[in-house]
Amino acid sequence: MSESLNLDWGNLPFSYIKTDYNIRCYNRNGEWGQLESTSSERIDLHMASISLHYGQQAFEGLKAFRGKDNKIRLFRWEENAKRMQSSADGILMPQVPTEMFKEAVFKAIEMNEKFVPPYGSGASLYIRPLLIGSGFGVGVRPADEYLFVVFVSPVGPYFKEGFKPVKMLLVHNYDRAAPLGTGNIKVGGNYAAGLVAMKMAKEKGFANVIFLDSKEKKYIDECGPANFFGIKENTYITPKSPSILPSITNKSIEQIAKSLGLNVERRKVPLEELESFEEVGACGTAAVISPIGKIVDNLTQKEYVYSTDGNPGKTSTKLYETLLAIQNGDLPDEFGWVTIVE
Ligand code: PLP
Ligand code: COI
Repeated sequence: MSESLNLDWGNLPFSYIKTDYNIRCYNRNGEWGQLESTSSERIDLHMASISLHYGQQAFEGLKAFRGKDNKIRLFRWEENAKRMQSSADGILMPQVPTEMFKEAVFKAIEMNEKFVPPYGSGASLYIRPLLIGSGFGVGVRPADEYLFVVFVSPVGPYFKEGFKPVKMLLVHNYDRAAPLGTGNIKVGGNYAAGLVAMKMAKEKGFANVIFLDSKEKKYIDECGPANFFGIKENTYITPKSPSILPSITNKSIEQIAKSLGLNVERRKVPLEELESFEEVGACGTAAVISPIGKIVDNLTQKEYVYSTDGNPGKTSTKLYETLLAIQNGDLPDEFGWVTIVE
């Protein structure tokens, strides 16, 4: 039971906390081996590992929630399994089979059951599957050995503000991914590419950055580690772009929005449209729904203000509450998104 651990569940940051076990599996000679559990936080990796030098690695992020009934609910794990397969295809790694992904994720949760935060704490168990080209070499080529790891960590909100409007810096002079590059898969290089822009934004007091499309610099792409959405005239609008990560949270919010009677549009979002939104926000597994109170354009210094009283908008609040209630079992799982971890 989570209550027996001496953790301040209500004030957890989004960071790594050591748990008891993680799950691993190697792919050698093109074959996956057996899943193993370990208490070690270390990986024994060759210094010439292809993952370290040529960035052959991908990861996922999903969450499990404890309900009022004390059951643990895992959100849309099949979607993460699929996306990890598409990341693997994108950088020539072997796919982790769906069943193996499931078994590893469920084992990681079950073996660390006491780290699943209690119902009502606002925290959840973040699950981080990782796939790396562990094999070594010096020439550029795919690795000949792969390691799949699943670890977990109890987490609180990604942005320290929690469900409070954050400030975002819109950048013109940095890209996280190229139009035909790897922006649509979840590989570490995309995040490395965004670090300088993020550091600059944080130094100026912003929670993160908003990237524009890297080809024309005319359209909103995404928000640091989350997708972007805007709301106006009873419509939920979110960018369509080849270089953004297809967010599972965003897909879910689109369905929730429809069920709440909103129109949903997934299309290019021109920069000028920022002016007309009533509410805007960032969404993702870690970010959940993070309302954006203000966007500052780093080139023109133009400011777009969405919240003047420090409160999130009505529609974002409704979407947020509905998503959370489905995830922790307070609302019926009418979309079939939740799997109970027995
Ligand atoms: N965009 C980026 C760049 C991300 O890292 C994430 C997080 O996974 C998302 C969007 C949101 O995706 P999801 O909702 O599947 O977590
Ligand atoms: C997630 O939302 O799961 C992410 O992967 C974001 C992250 C890079 C912290």
